[in-house]
Amino acid sequence: MRGKPSETCAHVTNQPARFHVKSFGCQMNVHDSERMSDLLMGEGMTAVDSADDADVIVLNTCHIREKATEKLFSDIGRIEKRARQAGPGRGKPLIVAAGCVAQAEGGEIAARAPAVDVVVGPLAYHRLPALVTAARARAEAGGAGPAVVDTDMPAEGKFGHLPARRPTGASAFLTIQEGCDKFCTFCVVPYTRGPEVSRPLAALVAEAEALVAGGAVEITLIGQNVNAWSDGAADFATLLRAVAAVPGLARLRYTTSHPRDMNEALLRAHAEVPALMPYLHLPVQSGSSRVLKAMNRAHTRESYLETLRALRAVRPDIALSGDFIVGFPGETEADFEDTLSIVEEVGYAQAYSFKYSPRPGTPAAAMAGQLDEAVKDARLARLQAAIGAQALAFNKATVGRRTTILLERPGRKPGQLIGKTPWLQSAVIEQPGAKIGDLVEIEIMEGFANSVAARPLVPAAA
Ligand code: SAH
Ligand code: SF4
Ligand code: F3S
Repeated sequence: MRGKPSETCAHVTNQPARFHVKSFGCQMNVHDSERMSDLLMGEGMTAVDSADDADVIVLNTCHIREKATEKLFSDIGRIEKRARQAGPGRGKPLIVAAGCVAQAEGGEIAARAPAVDVVVGPLAYHRLPALVTAARARAEAGGAGPAVVDTDMPAEGKFGHLPARRPTGASAFLTIQEGCDKFCTFCVVPYTRGPEVSRPLAALVAEAEALVAGGAVEITLIGQNVNAWSDGAADFATLLRAVAAVPGLARLRYTTSHPRDMNEALLRAHAEVPALMPYLHLPVQSGSSRVLKAMNRAHTRESYLETLRALRAVRPDIALSGDFIVGFPGETEADFEDTLSIVEEVGYAQAYSFKYSPRPGTPAAAMAGQLDEAVKDARLARLQAAIGAQALAFNKATVGRRTTILLERPGRKPGQLIGKTPWLQSAVIEQPGAKIGDLVEIEIMEGFANSVAARPLVPAAA
């Protein structure tokens, strides 16, 4: 650990006043950005919307695919260029490389990009204020010596060191679990986020209560493998029921879960807990059991389909989502056809698909049978066409449903508001008097590729 300050000097003196945090990754990463903002605000700093106006820029990186990693270095280049253009009076902002690239590459990032002042991993960012203080001292001393690097994975965890949650708006994230023990052969997450660790039930219920008291109507429980969560005898279904019981909470969601941890109790919760929204993101990755085995997914095509059959039996209106990788090493045309056919069989409301990206240090990167980019491109295009057609069909099939949306943001045109249906569709309405955070009764009128149009059922207040 180079240049790491002691944890006791957490107070930041002469702190630059303005900061900007940019997220590159998954929901965990977006939420970590919110928490890093909370920490810096706790030091009296102000968040600004543009990196150009900031004295401290936090780049919260993602390592999942190669392109995500490269974005970090192009952003650093852009920041340096702007600082040069602004002239010597302005000075270079402090650059913090946080997140999963920071964890994976540590001090190597600063070696490749000397403009980086701090490197901090996703399990150590509760020390961000102290790290920024140390970096500032280093900058004032002329920038000599190595960058400040903290990629510890402290056993006690960061959650006890984070400030209380600020009001988050109508929809809030709650981290229940971190890390991953699954070691899918393509994936960096077990290396960047460490082993699976669940937060205690009581702390989670208390945080959920604080979020609702701060105005949250919907909570999404997040983690890399939320359905593997446990605390003693309590399993994930117990946690869902405990959070759903928080008075004032209207909606509960969770993401991401692993097909192998979908158990009976969780299926029952989907049938019995009214606040639990009828939407499940359950990544399958491939429709070929042969490829799934090479991926070390610990589920087969058949077991995945069986899980979904059981779920649909207890919750017929559940909308399904998933992740897919095309072009995994050794994937044949027949394997890929199996992926297309599982998509047809399941009928997804939406899904995410990616070209396989070899990641340093993962077993799949060293496998024989790496495929050409052109093959991956062609397969991705075919898969995305199939998924796109299903999303459109799903949205059209919901036309005529009467349901509730939670208003989240303004629409593109004046007077429009956008909310989410229980099935996570974006619905656009015009309802004078309605405001963000309201639950509004609507009827779905039209289905599009990525959204639906709706009309309010209750007339607007005069
Ligand atoms: N924990 C989640 C997903 C985490 S990563 C799960 O197990 O489902 C999000 C998605 O990125 C994965 O589901 C996978 O589809 C994709 N992904 C991960 N590693 C990848 C790689 N090396 N190349 C391409 N896509 C990848
Ligand atoms: Fe990665 Fe697999 Fe863990 Fe998901 S379950 S984070 S894909 S290793
Ligand atoms: Fe990316 Fe790390 Fe999330 S690698 S997907 S930011 S856990």
